[in-house]
Amino acid sequence: MNAKTPLEPTPTRDEAARKAFVSTLRRHVLTDIAARMRQNYDEVARPGFEAREGRAPGDGPEVHKLMKPTREFRFYSAVRSNAQEMVFASVIPTVERELDNINSAAKELREETAVGGSLTLDPDLEIPRNVTDVDVHRAPGSYHSEYADDDVAAGAVYDRAIDVFAFGQFGANHDDVGQTMANYIRLKYPDLRPGRILDCGCTVGHNTLPWVEAYPDAEVHAIDVAPGVLRFGSARANTQGRAVHFKQMNATALDYPDASFDVVYSSMFLHELPLKDIRGYLAEAFRVLKPGGLLWNMELPPNSAMGAYESFYLDWDSYYNSEPFYKGFRDQDYRELVRTAGFTDADFIEATIPRYTFMSEADFKAAIDKPMTFDSQTGRMDPKGTRWYGFGAFKSTSA
Ligand SMILES: C[S@@+](CC[C@H](N)C(=O)[O-])C[C@H]1O[C@@H](n2cnc3c(N)ncnc32)[C@H](O)[C@@H]1O
Repeated sequence: MNAKTPLEPTPTRDEAARKAFVSTLRRHVLTDIAARMRQNYDEVARPGFEAREGRAPGDGPEVHKLMKPTREFRFYSAVRSNAQEMVFASVIPTVERELDNINSAAKELREETAVGGSLTLDPDLEIPRNVTDVDVHRAPGSYHSEYADDDVAAGAVYDRAIDVFAFGQFGANHDDVGQTMANYIRLKYPDLRPGRILDCGCTVGHNTLPWVEAYPDAEVHAIDVAPGVLRFGSARANTQGRAVHFKQMNATALDYPDASFDVVYSSMFLHELPLKDIRGYLAEAFRVLKPGGLLWNMELPPNSAMGAYESFYLDWDSYYNSEPFYKGFRDQDYRELVRTAGFTDADFIEATIPRYTFMSEADFKAAIDKPMTFDSQTGRMDPKGTRWYGFGAFKSTSA
């Protein structure tokens, strides 16, 4: 575990206990209660459907309709909904109480501990409605709300909440996704030696920093529309001695020249965008990539690759967790999205990848050489072993 930094408030004993409880509750609902719901599907709901219809349920919505009236689904949904609200309720009071201290510590860290990175905010940037019109995954105030001058509250809450939300499954530095995705590229494509890397929709940069580690000679940029998370992320990067250029910018209108990056990366970003903005971001990624450069997105796997039950299970968030674009994104053909942005089908890549943080590099390397598989461990937090999903494309050298 990393040493505590001035960006982390000290919880009271009750607050620490509440945080630990909610983390355990999240783990319980996503493992034990989820397993009970699956058992009901396998032993009762699906056989009943098959007896009536003469076939198995065909897709996620059909499974959803079948499971909705069951006690197991209702219990799972009730506990999971409450646990989601409790994630934020378990960290906000601690941040609120110490906000003045965190804000000034963050300012000091940005100004006095600079390690070669930077922070550029754009107060005139219009924050898009996918952020402002909904408390995304029920985070009060979404990503963008500010409560003081130079405020980092949204970042401080996100940084603490992610630990509770993921019940430790993102690793001690909350960066397993970035570690996995950056090291996959480093090991799989050793000839790619990026000089400039861009992370879009970076939030506080949890998954940006592993790119600095994987490619120490690269200049790493990270953009987001929300100012508080960027201020926090910039200060946090300095506490870890990693240089990142954070900028407040919309990924659908990148303020970078054509052909100026070797890698454009995103994680857990596209499912929070309306389809037109997914297309806008991908087109911008194509534009700012150099020929031979790589677009690489960590995301939820597409519904077309998953079984009906897994599609239903993963799409729960779209119906019950204030993630209005989640299912719409997962219903897309990712290859078509990338092709429409300008990449060729031959340059498309995708992979399901075990978690880098939780294994040796030799085991990771051996695992990524095996053919990819999609199953209930793909894209889902599972203490027994998640596989993250990534897709993207190289930009053709003739483009
Ligand atoms: C789920 S978070 C991404 C998490 C982050 N990439 C990580 O791996 O920790 C989505 C982020 O996208 C940002 N965002 C939403 N729409 C955006 C847009 N059009 N351009 C840039 N950032 C955007 C939000 O402010 C939020 O910080």
